[in-house]
Amino acid sequence: MSEHYFEFREVTKSFDDLLVLDRVSFFVDRGETAVILGRSGVGKSVTLKHILGFLKPDSGRVIVAGKDVTDWDEERFGSIRQKVTMVFQSGALFDSLTVRENVAFPLESREPVREAIPVRVQALLDMLEAADVADKLPAELSTGTKRAVAIARGLAQDPEAILYDEPTTMVDPLMAAHIGDLILKLKQLFHTTSIVVTHDTHLARKLADRVIFLHEGKVRFFGPWDAFESSDDPFLKHFRLEDDLVPALDVVDRAEPPCEPDWPRPAIS
Ligand SMILES: Nc1ncnc2c1ncn2[C@@H]1O[C@H](COP(=O)(O)OP(=O)(O)OP(=O)(O)O)[C@@H](O)[C@H]1O
Ligand SMILES: [Mg+2]
Repeated sequence: MSEHYFEFREVTKSFDDLLVLDRVSFFVDRGETAVILGRSGVGKSVTLKHILGFLKPDSGRVIVAGKDVTDWDEERFGSIRQKVTMVFQSGALFDSLTVRENVAFPLESREPVREAIPVRVQALLDMLEAADVADKLPAELSTGTKRAVAIARGLAQDPEAILYDEPTTMVDPLMAAHIGDLILKLKQLFHTTSIVVTHDTHLARKLADRVIFLHEGKVRFFGPWDAFESSDDPFLKHFRLEDDLVPALDVVDRAEPPCEPDWPRPAIS
């Protein structure tokens, strides 16, 4: 048992000679959003797979929903996968089902009142701003819209926690900002415990209550976002600089767009 919703205690994982996680420890409390940051190949997705029981640690303990699940078998993990949903990078939608049917899918087995399903699906699609594509097939959607639909389907499961794996990769910056805003909206509305895996510091800044920064198999930083942003660790400074997280740009980012003057313009003759 743990007082935390998610907790890794000294988790180590290797694949043959490759040591991916080296005594990794962190926790995420109920209602919090933690962001796992780090370079490609550092073990971010591997971390999420331990949470869902798709991978087992070589040593250390994995706590999910407050319970030590390290030694749980596949069958017991079924209950964890009901509580903790994963939004995959690919979206992982059913190709032959429409958007509406995809979102309804988790409800078919959970919702006893059949008439309630379309209402709930519509509410989810409205919330994720995807109602206009409800009757399309996934192949007809852009990557960004697929992600929004995948999030709606994840929410249909009514999860206690959501894991997002790279929700803003492979989309343009505007779509990335839109997806980030949608996740932020869900965070503010529901306070669902979440872990967001990304190397996008702009997304991290938007969402993170807590940061887990992985580097060379180890937790290089674990703490609140503000402490991450002001950390003197030269490596983290460099990472932030590379990702344009410098104060000067911060000011530009947050600046209001130039306002129209609120007096009548002189007529152009
Ligand atoms: N099932 C597996 N078998 C062998 N090696 C694996 C397996 N899963 C992951 N790895 C290796 O573990 C390392 C970490 O992989 P992981 O997918 O967690 O990286 P990541 O941090 O998510 O990277 P990215 O940002 O590119 O998604 C990589 O070197 C990867 O090749
Ligand atoms: Mg990954």
